[in-house]
Amino acid sequence: MEIISGKDLAMSIKKEVAEQVEKLAAQYGRKPNLTVVLVGDDPASVSYVTGKGKACAEVGIENKTITLPAESTEEQVLELINTLNADQTVDGILVQLPLPKHINEERVIDAILKEKDVDGFHPYNVAALWEKRPCILPCTPKGVVKLLKSKNIEISGKRVVVMGRSNIVGLPAAKLMLDENATVTIVHSRTKNIADVCAEADILIVGIGKPKFVKPEFIKEGAAVIDVGVNRDPETGKLCGDVDFDACAPHCSYITKVPGGVGPMTIACLMENTVECFLSHVK
Ligand code: GUN
Repeated sequence: MEIISGKDLAMSIKKEVAEQVEKLAAQYGRKPNLTVVLVGDDPASVSYVTGKGKACAEVGIENKTITLPAESTEEQVLELINTLNADQTVDGILVQLPLPKHINEERVIDAILKEKDVDGFHPYNVAALWEKRPCILPCTPKGVVKLLKSKNIEISGKRVVVMGRSNIVGLPAAKLMLDENATVTIVHSRTKNIADVCAEADILIVGIGKPKFVKPEFIKEGAAVIDVGVNRDPETGKLCGDVDFDACAPHCSYITKVPGGVGPMTIACLMENTVECFLSHVK
């Protein structure tokens, strides 16, 4: 069994991005800029946004985080997006999700210029992904593919099971695995015999938001397991994944940990995406 360190791989990606940013700054006279919009003060969101800002500082990407009060109206958020869309010094716009309940998330995502959509959440980018056209790839699934490839884990022809069907993780992860020529199954809360289906997977990708839900009976001996979950362990209060790591790890060929697995890769891919957005419109 080998633990795949997302932390180490993310560091080497960020080093490459930092070198690229330096060259771009010399070539174009300015650095890529990522502007993050946070509405409200949800502690998890604040922590994610802080992590993104820290990564920007590491790689030399300019970062501005705009915090709006939780009571902001949808119109105020849309107005801010429009201003950022028009601002030539802003290359990437990231609206931290979830938004307060009174704000329509879809309307806000739709308002972001697709060229500045660093998350790859805009319907144009989502459709482009499913049609295999050039697009901004969503950061978390992009990071998952990089983790697998970093260990030369064969994907083509393999059985991949994706647990969870969210727009952010499950659906795009399944599509990226399909593009790598895997045979892909998506399982979810209504799936019958979920453990049996998962136990057929050569590669199991889990993003369901249930602490330590995945037990050894979900794992085929020698499978590679990627844990996208970020939860609080109800017993210890510590950060934990969707996979019961201690119980499952002995049965895996490769497995990621939480923290230090997919999380840092999401942020590293966000840095790459910001450079991609910069290059798409810099003059
Ligand atoms: N909330 C949880 N994950 C994400 C993400 O990848 N991007 C944004 N914008 N919000 C999130």
